Amino acid sequence: MFENNPFSILAEVVSPIAMQGFIIAMVVLIALGTIIQMISHKNLTYFLNNAKKAKLQATRNIGAGERASIIAKTTVYDIGTTSELGFGKRRLAHVLGMYGTIIFWVSSATLVFCYTGVDKSSSSTWSILWHVGAILTCIGGYWFWFFLRVDVSAEAHPWYRIIKADLFVLALLASSTFGLAWSYTQFNGQIGLSYLFLTLFIASNLILFGGVYWSKFAHMFYKPGAAIQKNLAEADGSRDNLPPPADAPEQFGLGIKREEPKHY
Ligand code: HEM
Repeated sequence: MFENNPFSILAEVVSPIAMQGFIIAMVVLIALGTIIQMISHKNLTYFLNNAKKAKLQATRNIGAGERASIIAKTTVYDIGTTSELGFGKRRLAHVLGMYGTIIFWVSSATLVFCYTGVDKSSSSTWSILWHVGAILTCIGGYWFWFFLRVDVSAEAHPWYRIIKADLFVLALLASSTFGLAWSYTQFNGQIGLSYLFLTLFIASNLILFGGVYWSKFAHMFYKPGAAIQKNLAEADGSRDNLPPPADAPEQFGLGIKREEPKHY
């Protein structure tokens, strides 16, 4: 099953051009949702004004070389390993889900554009990557959903309590889960079930990409921007308009050791 390209078998009934059109439409939905969100929530305006204000507080100028090096380091470490989540389960779950999703999306586009159609060859590597990406997304996402979500782990809400903020994680999980179920049933010749899961796979993608405006989807663009801005502000001394660190030892008293910090 892992070496099977489900899109290629689907091409017997659905034109590859329609599948390519679907992917392009999803990219357009991401762009539209993010741009409309930025305009209506004014977060880009806030971000740029804040950066401009911080610039006035800068105590030193950073050259192009240093700027490039800070951006590269931030990309590899802060963004590439989601360092803001500290060390622990939360970060590991996020990294699994993040890379799983990136692999799943890139391999979906590669399979549909390069390996689906009558005159196209097949690639077991990309088919395996598609399945592995979906599985990693499920591992990271379900781990987060059942055990790590703040509502569950810190606020004692049951795992099945759903709010609007869960739209992104649930649609993401639905898309990978139904994608895997579709591939499995298609590979085993369960025609009826495979079309059911295909329909659910399409619906979950429409919700995931069509819901960008209402969901946390765009954090994957905002967070990297904020991390780069924060590290540049530290290097030029502006510190995002925050006061300098106190010149005193960090003494929090023994109470700090009583339990893990998890009351957000
Ligand atoms: C393809 C890229 C990414 C995917 C699929 C992804 C996925 C997710 C998901 C599913 C959540 C849980 C959302 C919720 O609270 O319901 C989440 C939260 C979060 N993401 Fe991402 N993310 C991506 C990129 C990034 C990047 C680049 C950063 C930072 C540089 C980032 C930082 C965070 C943080 C700080 C949280 C909150 C985590 C928590 O509450 O434990 N994410 N992400």
